[in-house]
Amino acid sequence: MADATRMSGTDAAVICSRAVLQDAGLAARFVVEFNGRNMDAFAIAYQGKVHAYVNSCPHRGTTLDWEPGQVFDNSGIYLVCATHGALFEPDSGRCVGGPCQGASLTRVQVEDNAGQVSLVTGRLVQPYLPTTSSADPKGD
Ligand code: FES
Repeated sequence: MADATRMSGTDAAVICSRAVLQDAGLAARFVVEFNGRNMDAFAIAYQGKVHAYVNSCPHRGTTLDWEPGQVFDNSGIYLVCATHGALFEPDSGRCVGGPCQGASLTRVQVEDNAGQVSLVTGRLVQPYLPTTSSADPKGD
């Protein structure tokens, strides 16, 4: 049975162009509503695939970014929490080092569909929030 909250086709909410996301680069931040609650979230590209998570560290609930959209560590291998340095696997969201080791970021279901990153579940409140970097929000 299909997920009742799943959107598809033209109903899918577009977060950003896939071209905005460079592998292990800046995240595309957005706001999603689940169960009547708005939450900051981000989408990333890692090893050619798109992943998205609620932007809330399982340790204390702070956002991960050390600058808007900066969620990868310098190596580009892990996501890192700016508050206490917890490290997360980009493809699973699992914490592999730091005070919340073994816990996980909350995944947001997204799909890469014909060059558009779209929300699969939940309601998109605010699509792509531009950062101060030179990334082009239109993906041009
Ligand atoms: S709030 Fe993220 S590691 Fe403490």
